[in-house]
Amino acid sequence: MKKILDLITDEIKNAFASCQYDQSYAKVVLSNRPDLCEYQCNGAMAAAKVYKKKPIDIAAAVVEKLTGSPMFSEVSAVMPGFINLRLDGQFVADYMNGMLGQEKLGLEEPGRGETIIVDYGGANVAKPLHVGHLRSAVIGECIRRLGNYLGYHMVGDVHLGDWGLQMGLIIEELRDRQPDLVYFDENYRGPYPEEPPFTIGELEDIYPAASAKSKEDEAFRERAQNATFRLQQGYAPFTAVWKHIMAVSLADLKKNYGNLDVHFDLWKGESDAQPYIPGLIKDLEERGIAHQSQGALVVDISRPEDSKELPPCIIRKSDGAALYATSDLGTILEREKDFAPVKYIYITDKRQELHFVQVFRTAKLAGYVREEVPMIHIGFGTMNGKDGKPFKTRDGGVMRLEHLIADIDEAVYARIMENRTVSEEEAARTARTVGLAALKYGDLSNQAAKDYVFDLDRFISFEGNTGPYILYTIVRIKSILARYEAMEKRYDGEAAVLPAASGGEKTLMLELARFNEVMETAFQETAPHRICQYIYGLSDAFNSFYHDTRILAQEDLRQQAGWICLITLVKDVLTACIQVLGFEAPERM
Ligand code: ARG
Repeated sequence: MKKILDLITDEIKNAFASCQYDQSYAKVVLSNRPDLCEYQCNGAMAAAKVYKKKPIDIAAAVVEKLTGSPMFSEVSAVMPGFINLRLDGQFVADYMNGMLGQEKLGLEEPGRGETIIVDYGGANVAKPLHVGHLRSAVIGECIRRLGNYLGYHMVGDVHLGDWGLQMGLIIEELRDRQPDLVYFDENYRGPYPEEPPFTIGELEDIYPAASAKSKEDEAFRERAQNATFRLQQGYAPFTAVWKHIMAVSLADLKKNYGNLDVHFDLWKGESDAQPYIPGLIKDLEERGIAHQSQGALVVDISRPEDSKELPPCIIRKSDGAALYATSDLGTILEREKDFAPVKYIYITDKRQELHFVQVFRTAKLAGYVREEVPMIHIGFGTMNGKDGKPFKTRDGGVMRLEHLIADIDEAVYARIMENRTVSEEEAARTARTVGLAALKYGDLSNQAAKDYVFDLDRFISFEGNTGPYILYTIVRIKSILARYEAMEKRYDGEAAVLPAASGGEKTLMLELARFNEVMETAFQETAPHRICQYIYGLSDAFNSFYHDTRILAQEDLRQQAGWICLITLVKDVLTACIQVLGFEAPERM
């Protein structure tokens, strides 16, 4: 279906044109004075300057052409030249019924299956997932789902950090703990055992221990660097250890991301970029895109229009090592070969902003990515504790993601058990569903670039701008619908949404009608918080309509059936939105 705003704009355009004014003035916006009108067009003011007329005269002429239009119940020209619009009840009801009849509720997919890469998650192998990785996973998952919903072919890649120094640290710590393993016997020629020499629990202990040791023990650090180097050169025993680290760690990561209901199409990582790097360096050097600078190989990416000079992108350090940017460029070569995407979206902490500017500019300078392909970095802010500092555990440590999730579930469980209307088993299941919604909504409802405060009590509240409030609204509608289904006397004609019987009902309908537009805008702006804003407003509109309307006690059965259609649409729209946000509603709560 056409967006309601476009339908209205088209009508106004025709009116401008038939008064001989240019159609471009017919821009319609949602009214910022809902007490006066629903939509408005302010184009007469701009047109007045060009046509050298009074704005009110232009507005009046346009309004005159609109009288009799079935789209509006009220059109008026107001000083100094506003055109105020109210939509006709039947027109809006028809729009609602149109939405109800469609699988995607009136959304026309702007995507035609074009491939878009979303790079999110970004966990570092063998290091536990902590809350810093949470935002990337939650935001990225939403972008991936939203793009797919809009008809794009989203390819989500976790892009693991699986090739850095942590690997050498683990190898050397393992040597210190289990020196007799075959991997450390220089004379052993394989084959290497299938069984990993550690469990995930041990691995989680090995990395922090090694990391701490490397800070005090210089010899150890050198050994780790050397081991990393040998691994990267393809030394077979260390490659075998690396494979064990990957297998053990990946199983755990998959479980953790699964608990967050976060999914990836590709489980690639920095290591997959390595085969591309020698060719990449050679190419950049030969074509003169990169040059030597103090022994390093760099690409100048600064532009005259930059407000401050940006440092060059370092491709190879003076000691010969490739860097984070090099592996991101290698990954781009692989993605171009495999997908030639029409857009790239990367989601990381905003402190990586410069890195991505350097990588994107280099990719474009070298012609690896076509000029017209947008490369977007969504840099998000920090999740803080109530003290305004980055979120920590009670004793000041780094909070592990699974502990955070457990804390939320526990708090929601306690809240549900206060009322004790459901079994403990159901309460536990519901707590998990509601807890995840609280966590994800608490994050997504903020503009990504901003820092936010993780406030458990607020996030799990059933009131206010929270995930549980949205779920509560859906559950409430489900329960009304179930009670209606169980009623004996129901309308037996063809049920449809009828023109709004009250201001509150009309407001609810106008909110519903914005669905397709909101989804598209959220994607264009890569801004999940727009969807949250929208469903919060929609839930409020529903709850106040419901407060004022006695649906199940209504005696006019046709009217009652119309309301049932309307609230079904509310439920469907809310459900589609939370599905895209990455969580779901329980049956009861
Ligand atoms: N592993 C990185 C980190 O923890 C994030 C990776 C982001 N993606 C990328 N293509 N660089 O900081």
